[in-house]
Amino acid sequence: MAQPQVDPTPGLSARIDTSVAHEARVYDYWLGGKDNYPADRALGDAIAGHIPAIRTMAQANRAFLGRSVRYLAREAGITQFLDIGTGIPTAGNTHEVAQRAEPSARVVYVDNDPIVLAHARALMSSSPQGRTTFIHADLHDPRSILDDPSIAATLDLERPVAIMLVAVLMYFDDENDPHGIVRTLLDAAPSGSYLVITHPTADFDERAMARVTHSAEAAGITFHPRSRAGTESLFAGTELIDPGVVPVVTWRPDLAEHPSAEAVDPESAWYWAGVGRKP
Ligand SMILES: C[S@@+](CC[C@H](N)C(=O)[O-])C[C@H]1O[C@@H](n2cnc3c(N)ncnc32)[C@H](O)[C@@H]1O
Repeated sequence: MAQPQVDPTPGLSARIDTSVAHEARVYDYWLGGKDNYPADRALGDAIAGHIPAIRTMAQANRAFLGRSVRYLAREAGITQFLDIGTGIPTAGNTHEVAQRAEPSARVVYVDNDPIVLAHARALMSSSPQGRTTFIHADLHDPRSILDDPSIAATLDLERPVAIMLVAVLMYFDDENDPHGIVRTLLDAAPSGSYLVITHPTADFDERAMARVTHSAEAAGITFHPRSRAGTESLFAGTELIDPGVVPVVTWRPDLAEHPSAEAVDPESAWYWAGVGRKP
């Protein structure tokens, strides 16, 4: 069993402010997790008031994460993953899915929420052949992620890596330069690397999503849905693999596991999803 890479952080619990909602805990609440507090549940419920199906949408996003990692590990030969905006550990974490397909897979997790750091040990349960680590860092400063010693200790950036930005770029409005952030990450990865993105969108119900944006911003959280074209623009510098940027439930549905997936309503989850390959 690989040893946890995170030292116990003094004062960590003092840095977890449970009086305000935080993205990771709201998402955990929708996924049925236990690591959330009244402020998170209040925002989660307010958003569910605008989008009653938000919980199944969050699950659909999570299911895509599993399908994309499985695809990358099994079919694209990817054994290294940089999963940024990891979330609170839940079923089907990236290393679990990847190492089921390829036990030597290596995963670096990154999140800026101290509560995710507090749970990081659950992300360290690597297979003996593989390796996982966690970096507590902010995607606003992608260089701080790339320059963290855990990256060089865990990943070989001379070999292809999958950069996972699953349900995180909506916290970046255009002023935060998400395109530049993605470019910095991609520039550090060699040819043959992959970029995985999901992104909430107002394309399916503009009014409901406007209310979600308002509720999030009232709780102090930037929330910036993007259109299909806006999501595609984040893949600049990559070639989208089939089927391109599509509704999250329709990205390579797993017909073996869910034979009814063919009949799934593409608009049942309001996220665009795609996987691009750096040529
Ligand atoms: C909606 S969750 C998505 C979790 C996971 N990627 C998934 O799709 O299941 C978003 C995560 O991004 C993290 N996050 C938000 N802003 C971030 C930032 N600036 N830097 C790093 N992580 C961030 C949150 O703490 C949260 O854990």
